[in-house]
Amino acid sequence: MMLVRSLGLSLLSMFPVVSANLASGGLSVTLNDVYYYVSPFTSGKVAVSPTSLKSVPAVFGFKPVTVIQGGVAKADLPSLVAQWTSSDDVYQAAFAEAIFLAGSNSSCKTKTQIVSGASSLIVPLDVTTIPSGPYFLEMATGSLYPVYRLYEDFAGSFMQSLIPTPDGKFQPMSAQIPGSAALTVGVPSRLYYTKTAAKPLAGVRLGVKDIYRLAGVKGSNGNRAWYDLYPAATYTGPAIQRLIDAGAVVVGLQKTSQFANGETATADWVDYHSPFNPRGDGYQDPSSSSSGAGSSVASYEWLDIAIGSDTGGSIRGPAGAQGLFGNRPSHGLVSLDNVMPLSPTLDTPGFLVRDPAIWEAANAALYGSNYKSLASATPKYPKTIRTIGFPASAGTSAANKILIDFVSALATFVGGTVAPITLATEWTSTGPKGAPALAQFLNTTYPTLITKEQIALVREPFYRDYAAAHDGRRPFVNPVPLARWGYGDTVSESQLQAQYDAKKSFMDWFNTEILPPAADPDQCSSGFVLYVASSGSQNPRNRYGSAPGVPFGFSSGRISVLSEVPDSVFPLGQVSSLSTITNHTEFLPVAVDIMVAKGCDGLLVKLAQDLVKAGIIAKPLPGGTIEGGDILMRRGMTVMDIWN
Ligand SMILES: *[C@@H]1O[C@H](CO)[C@@H](O)[C@H](O)[C@H]1NC(C)=O
Ligand SMILES: *[C@@H]1O[C@H](CO)[C@@H](O)[C@H](O)[C@H]1NC(C)=O
Ligand SMILES: *[C@@H]1O[C@H](CO)[C@@H](O)[C@H](O)[C@H]1NC(C)=O
Repeated sequence: MMLVRSLGLSLLSMFPVVSANLASGGLSVTLNDVYYYVSPFTSGKVAVSPTSLKSVPAVFGFKPVTVIQGGVAKADLPSLVAQWTSSDDVYQAAFAEAIFLAGSNSSCKTKTQIVSGASSLIVPLDVTTIPSGPYFLEMATGSLYPVYRLYEDFAGSFMQSLIPTPDGKFQPMSAQIPGSAALTVGVPSRLYYTKTAAKPLAGVRLGVKDIYRLAGVKGSNGNRAWYDLYPAATYTGPAIQRLIDAGAVVVGLQKTSQFANGETATADWVDYHSPFNPRGDGYQDPSSSSSGAGSSVASYEWLDIAIGSDTGGSIRGPAGAQGLFGNRPSHGLVSLDNVMPLSPTLDTPGFLVRDPAIWEAANAALYGSNYKSLASATPKYPKTIRTIGFPASAGTSAANKILIDFVSALATFVGGTVAPITLATEWTSTGPKGAPALAQFLNTTYPTLITKEQIALVREPFYRDYAAAHDGRRPFVNPVPLARWGYGDTVSESQLQAQYDAKKSFMDWFNTEILPPAADPDQCSSGFVLYVASSGSQNPRNRYGSAPGVPFGFSSGRISVLSEVPDSVFPLGQVSSLSTITNHTEFLPVAVDIMVAKGCDGLLVKLAQDLVKAGIIAKPLPGGTIEGGDILMRRGMTVMDIWN
């Protein structure tokens, strides 16, 4: 890095600068008090005389216009513009003052009323390659530039706001709207994109955890020294590239707790500030490590989905804390090349999402031929439902009632039965002969694997490169990864081998005795295993915990980690409690984890879709509760009402 910088300087001093390389980073404007960004990359040109469209306002020679493809009849324009205005958060009627209409049989401009109270110029368009939607037209050149709407990242979910470049890379979006220590994120109009079989995610807005490398973008892994040390990635890893190829629109990199280790908001997040969980009083811990993913999907209507990663709970934790769907997939469905590892043996890429239909399309794109979609099948749902650590009766607990009611509704829905199991007891009766108790057998498995693998793959090269660049210095690392790596240094290679063996032994047992596959592909899994993801209890972020330690022990959350089965969070409802912060009743989500046999990821998404359709669960909404509503930080602000 230092080498590159000094080389740049010496080149500059060797050669006189004869031409200035001037490039636009885009332009920020407001239109009727809505913040927009004009992309620096044109979508194409139209024939327009520089003096035409006199009645349309301009900034720096850019005028808001609309392109309409597909041979729409003039008589249908008013209803089309009205529909776009209500369905697309970027489009507003002011773009309709000049309409470039393709497929119209007239060759001259006409003036008609499309939007009440204003007249629109209709200009014939012979270019069919420019998608319908709003644009800013550069009068001097006739170039049309795509429009992004700008939003404040008030939840602090993002690390960088990005736009795609024409060469398939990304660059920072150079725009800033009012906000308090908040980034500005831009989203392009949804009208530019049409879903097709090849592009099932066309226009779906995606946030990306800042451990996935994107071409042209520097990454941080939640560590400032890392961000400074390493150059921008030269290519986008295959996982994210698959989503882009399916049409997803990457809007930015999102916060991760450092090196994807579990951190609490107070006071583990030393290098960067932990994002805000919008639910309840707005000061609940968002969980980690896919913290930006969870807080953003729970906060922003304008974001459809976020990709995180789950090694020991980094997707399931934020999904539970924020009341979202979230999946830890079967292990090994897609390459994690060009993604920072915590433990390749355990790392998985998955989503946080509100809408199961988008979840299904995203899974299919990300996991490719390893994903057995049941989207268009009629699944034969397993009839065996087992619960681990569920309340036996609701008592006075509203959260327990939600959990128990859900399990019984699920049993009715699949026509099955529910039985509680205790994994430790099952292990003792059907596990390997002479094996120690489960909690003892797997006590150090997780911390051994994550620390030994991350030390070798991340810490060692990082420390070496940093020292080489900084006269032998060590980079700053947050307390949690430091404490964990410190433990890893005490673990021998033979102990590591023993823990690989323990993991395999548990996996083979669980996937044979507890959750084997079903022979019928339409059933896929022999059963469901459920445990509690979140029960609506408060976990305020302004409380100091104990010093960071090593994640010893075994819990329900480790089952899928070690057995490689898919494990998805389903939001079920919410419960009220008196917030210690607001001194007011607030609502927090209740959620469940559902596991099925390895490779049956599609079954879980189909179940989510079917349970929503049956009214047993509801799609969570962004807002202060899973049913929507103002986020405390944003009271009185609504997304769509600004020009309506
Ligand atoms: C354009 O097409 C419409 C409908 O097909 C027709 O009624 C109209 O006369 C045409 N106008 C011209 C100028 O050809
Ligand atoms: C797990 O390991 C830690 C560290 O060696 C130890 O303190 C703890 O007692 C162990 N727990 C069990 C259940 O074996
Ligand atoms: C909390 O609200 C209750 C009921 O409105 C009130 O009596 C109490 O004084 C409040 N507590 C604090 C610390 O403000």
